[in-house]
Amino acid sequence: MNKIWNGAGRRIHMQEVGTRDGLQAEQAFVPTDEKVALVNALSEAGMAKIEVTSFVSPKAIPALRDGEIVLREITRQPGVVYSALVPNVRGAERAVDARTDEFNLVMSASETHNLANLRMTRGQSYAALREVNELAGQAGATVNVSLSCSFGCPMEGDVPAATVLDWCARFVDEMGAHGVTLCDTTGMAYPGQVAELTAAFRERWPATELTLHFHNTRGLGLANVLAAMDAGADRFDASLGGIGGCPYAPGATGNVCSEEIVHALELMGYRTGVDLQRLIEAAKRLPALIGHDIPSQIVKAGRRLDLHAVPADFEAIRERALARDL
Ligand code: COA
Ligand code: ZN
Repeated sequence: MNKIWNGAGRRIHMQEVGTRDGLQAEQAFVPTDEKVALVNALSEAGMAKIEVTSFVSPKAIPALRDGEIVLREITRQPGVVYSALVPNVRGAERAVDARTDEFNLVMSASETHNLANLRMTRGQSYAALREVNELAGQAGATVNVSLSCSFGCPMEGDVPAATVLDWCARFVDEMGAHGVTLCDTTGMAYPGQVAELTAAFRERWPATELTLHFHNTRGLGLANVLAAMDAGADRFDASLGGIGGCPYAPGATGNVCSEEIVHALELMGYRTGVDLQRLIEAAKRLPALIGHDIPSQIVKAGRRLDLHAVPADFEAIRERALARDL
């Protein structure tokens, strides 16, 4: 049997991004106390890391304009890392005030998407993020860098792996980032590509925390997670209910769904540390908060062994069938 199908208790770190990547894509403004309750439920469910919010311009992402309050009011569980997206120095100042554990610096590997999303060239973003890195260091926070469009850009097309790895080198080797997230912003990644980029990163930076961030836009989410695991990855971003997407990336839709990934990995014998039942209960709260149905197949179908009642006339069916043998 190929090793990927048999987790044998191997630990996989599940990082929740539903309250950031998820809610940023929604029209509805989820009330601050509901966001706090959602983060608390995700902490209690055992997610390793939670991207609580983003410190971006409230004009760009009005849905997350209450980031400071949410971070201040959540109940922090020991061992859970509370992260927030930071694009610039103003965002870093807000993240320091909110006592953010990890600053998730964001930049796109695609020049076009970086301009559309952050209104800066990649060079300008990098210069700003170096300052953000300084501020994070002074505040004692760790730094992760999320590289959008690492597997392709919806406006430019393919982004060469060499370009992605060059930016990784600048963030890891020059800036000393603790972690890097390779983001598939609009679901353009496919398993062979994922395996190659993951293996290349792991070989070059074995000690750097590597996260893979997939969107299920073309139905390849779980396949990409498995391909990355086979190539040495053990950390994944995912969103409750499978909501999410970048409003400044044309065609973006939801992240891989947290409860679907946890359900699949636990069946395969991996250890996620996540209480699936609690996660499902948290996901069931989403439709009322965001005003529409969610992609989650697990919320729709239940877990593999959530059984259904037999048909009402089952005894009659059985008796009729058994009577044939007499
Ligand atoms: N937090 C709050 N306000 C911010 C901010 C931040 N991090 N960065 C800038 N602003 C405010 C400025 O204070 C200024 O306010 P004013 O108009 O009241 O004076 C205004 O936003 C414009 O600032 P500027 O520095 O010129 O920003 P910009 O218009 O060039 O936009 C970004 C640059 C990065 C702030 C903006 O494009 C952004 O927030 N993008 C994030 C998009 C995103 O989150 N996408 C999804 C995640 S991948
Ligand atoms: Zn995303």
